[in-house]
Amino acid sequence: MRAEKWDAELYDAKHAFVWEKAKGLLELLAAKAGERILDLGCGTGSLTAEIAASGAEVVGVDRSPEMIAEAGKKFPALRFDVSDARALPFSHEFDAVFSNAALHWIPEAERVVAGVARALRAGGRFVAEFGGKGNIGSVVAALETALTRLGISPDDANPWFNPSIADYASLLEKHGIEVREAVLFERPTKLEDGERGLATWITMFGASFLDRVPEPERPQFLQEVELAARPALWKTDHWVLDYRRLRIAAWKCAS
Ligand code: BEZ
Repeated sequence: MRAEKWDAELYDAKHAFVWEKAKGLLELLAAKAGERILDLGCGTGSLTAEIAASGAEVVGVDRSPEMIAEAGKKFPALRFDVSDARALPFSHEFDAVFSNAALHWIPEAERVVAGVARALRAGGRFVAEFGGKGNIGSVVAALETALTRLGISPDDANPWFNPSIADYASLLEKHGIEVREAVLFERPTKLEDGERGLATWITMFGASFLDRVPEPERPQFLQEVELAARPALWKTDHWVLDYRRLRIAAWKCAS
């Protein structure tokens, strides 16, 4: 899922919070031994391995070959496939589809939901968490301000899909998946690396903004982002981003 090309090493080294904060989501999934579970947007596989530890049979998929290669190296006993969430190849075969921190990268949400509905057996569940409405609003505003200060248009640079509960629940129900739990909550997220943390985060996740800036101007761009973001997001000696999560538990209807 996510962007086209990923730095799997930087992801593991500096952004472990992506899976470390998912404990509650794993509890909501409550995987059982013998179940077949699809981990959609598995990244480097850390949560896939935690699900497998329950005794479930897990398949991890991600659109990024770099992430899948790293996942395979870390967890050679598990199955990982490169697969695009917009065109999932599975049919009525999983007891659950799980997804953490991936679906906000995919604006073609209806294609994803249709694929999830197809992948689940009747009565199977979809347990997912991703960026919800208003997610990282201050970061997006700072990125757009910084582009504008450099004379570059910010139009359509924002790659993220952050729906409301109502919009996403409607989409799921349209595809025969009944929402039983949905919550939108603030999850302030502390970055590693002190002063450099925001620039590191943008290097990892902000390619669609960074790519608009000519290489020699990128240090200035990052400084402009920091300047614009500082009043909202700098806390004494580290950055705290204004993440908002949408957490969903939903069941595929029997008929
Ligand atoms: C998120 O997890 O909400 C997120 C991560 C990277 C970029 C944008 C959003």
